[in-house]
Amino acid sequence: MTSTPRLELLGPQHARALERFERDNRAFFAARIGDRGDGFFERFDELLAERVDENRCGTSLLCVLVLDDEIVGRVNVLDLDRPDGAELGYRVAEHAQGRGLATAGVTDALAAASARGVRTVTARVFVDNTASRRVLEHCDFEPTGPVPSPDGSPREFVGYRRQLPPP
Ligand SMILES: CC(C)(COP(=O)(O)OP(=O)(O)OC[C@H]1O[C@@H](n2cnc3c(N)ncnc32)[C@H](O)[C@@H]1OP(=O)(O)O)[C@@H](O)C(=O)NCCC(=O)NCCS
Repeated sequence: MTSTPRLELLGPQHARALERFERDNRAFFAARIGDRGDGFFERFDELLAERVDENRCGTSLLCVLVLDDEIVGRVNVLDLDRPDGAELGYRVAEHAQGRGLATAGVTDALAAASARGVRTVTARVFVDNTASRRVLEHCDFEPTGPVPSPDGSPREFVGYRRQLPPP
């Protein structure tokens, strides 16, 4: 890959490419952060429309990472106006691992969030998810200690926080 990845705001035009990204990488993501479930794929267009609405209303910043006309990743900053900080999430295609795409995408998404007035961003990561923890460290997040797991599972999660400067 020689081109530069581009962060795009998620829109209806991404539907089929995004579905392909999620289907092609389902097993990879399931093994690392849990499966979205069959319902996610059965109701794909309906759920996408809800996400696109969140972007339209400005409550969240949901983005795709595009490289050579292919969606190779997603970066989401959710609940932009949450008092204790917006929440960051990201995933990158299995075939594009280890090339700095997550770090680049998160960096760009944080700049976009800052431009929207967000000053605090939080993340939570399974303690053994080394790649994800590296991404957060590259992007100047500080660990804040143990946090509850997002799905109520007994797995141990660690929280991260980053203060954003004004743009
Ligand atoms: C986590 C994830 C987004 C990383 O994507 P990526 O594009 O490969 O990330 P980057 O290339 O920007 O950085 C990954 C870093 O982790 C390192 N890394 C990857 N696997 C590693 C491992 N098993 N042990 C140690 N370091 C590892 C890479 O070397 C790189 O660090 P470096 O730049 O210092 O060399 C991707 O693995 C993924 O989608 N995982 C499943 C979903 C997920 O975990 N999302 C995060 C939920 S909080």
